[in-house]
Amino acid sequence: MKAVVIDQFGGPEVLRYRDVPDPSLSPASVLVEVRAAGVNRGDLQVRAGEFAVEEQPLPLIVGWEVAGVVKAVGDLVQDARQGDRVVAIIPSGGYAELATAIAQAVVPIPQSLSFEEAAGIPIVFMTAWFALVKKAALRSGETALVQAAGSGVGMAGVQIAKHVGARVIATAGSDEKLARARELGAGETINYRTTDFAEAVTTITGGRGVDVVLESVGGRTLVRSIELLASGGRLVSVGNSSREPVSIDAALLVERDVSLAGLYLGNELLRSGAIEEFQKVVDLCGRGELKVIVDRVLPLAEAAAAHAILADRANFGKVILRP
Ligand SMILES: NC(=O)c1ccc[n+]([C@@H]2O[C@H](COP(=O)([O-])OP(=O)(O)OC[C@H]3O[C@@H](n4cnc5c(N)ncnc54)[C@H](OP(=O)(O)O)[C@@H]3O)[C@@H](O)[C@H]2O)c1
Repeated sequence: MKAVVIDQFGGPEVLRYRDVPDPSLSPASVLVEVRAAGVNRGDLQVRAGEFAVEEQPLPLIVGWEVAGVVKAVGDLVQDARQGDRVVAIIPSGGYAELATAIAQAVVPIPQSLSFEEAAGIPIVFMTAWFALVKKAALRSGETALVQAAGSGVGMAGVQIAKHVGARVIATAGSDEKLARARELGAGETINYRTTDFAEAVTTITGGRGVDVVLESVGGRTLVRSIELLASGGRLVSVGNSSREPVSIDAALLVERDVSLAGLYLGNELLRSGAIEEFQKVVDLCGRGELKVIVDRVLPLAEAAAAHAILADRANFGKVILRP
């Protein structure tokens, strides 16, 4: 099969489109003919050898999410059949014509969704879902601040917060991204390149602050976001796109009576009930209650260009590769 392989860590140039052996199918797995593979900011870190959370041995096929058609099922698999349209979360191997996934990480794609839309669900929607719905327990009537609303995670977060019934304040680095965030349900938006976002949030909330923050920018943005929490507020940190180092004064948490949590999707997916949550979110997308915003679709061979789009912060939502 064709795949995008990295033999050494480095810049986009280390992504090589070439022939590799087909993946082998284990008894508890499903072999998927990939029609669409999602690109995530974490893929750029993996490619650069900077993904600290899990060791990634080389050579490696990058990619954590695929949508496609089941080509074969292992002997122990009961819930999937050849020909099924499915979306899967996988530990690696997404940028390829074929990928294997354990059966517990595979769900059917509703007819209303394209492969490209389905491939855009797993990583960003499940991260935002677990962060807002599970970790922060965001409730109807509360106010949520979604940082970097144009990111894949932010695009999903704005919609999930709105779906829960929260008032949504969104930030991003361009007015165009903010206009799109408003279309997805953000009531108020702030361009953090041209405006001091903390001052703006304080004004918008009449000095009260927000109940929940979905934070992925890191550094100073994370610290200032903690300062914006109302009493009893919860901030969930899911990333550090800015790569800025950060140190947090724990006294801030005590004084403001707020909670700070981190979330790593890889761990959440191992917890019991994770597949049911995945199915729930895919169904919400299928019913149009959550919308997968696909920024653009590129041929698999152009994975390096896809990485450049994310590095340049040029996407709103998901960039997808098509084998
Ligand atoms: N914890 C987990 O399990 C998990 C899972 C998925 C993703 N994540 C993390 O969540 C974040 C978003 O992921 P994604 O794939 O949705 O990202 P993405 O689509 O590449 O979007 C990232 C956005 O962050 C904003 N940003 C703000 N400051 C930045 C800076 N200094 N440098 C670069 N970008 C900056 C940019 O938007 P503007 O131009 O609008 O500023 C950029 O487009 C990443 O940090 C990722 O590692 C974590």
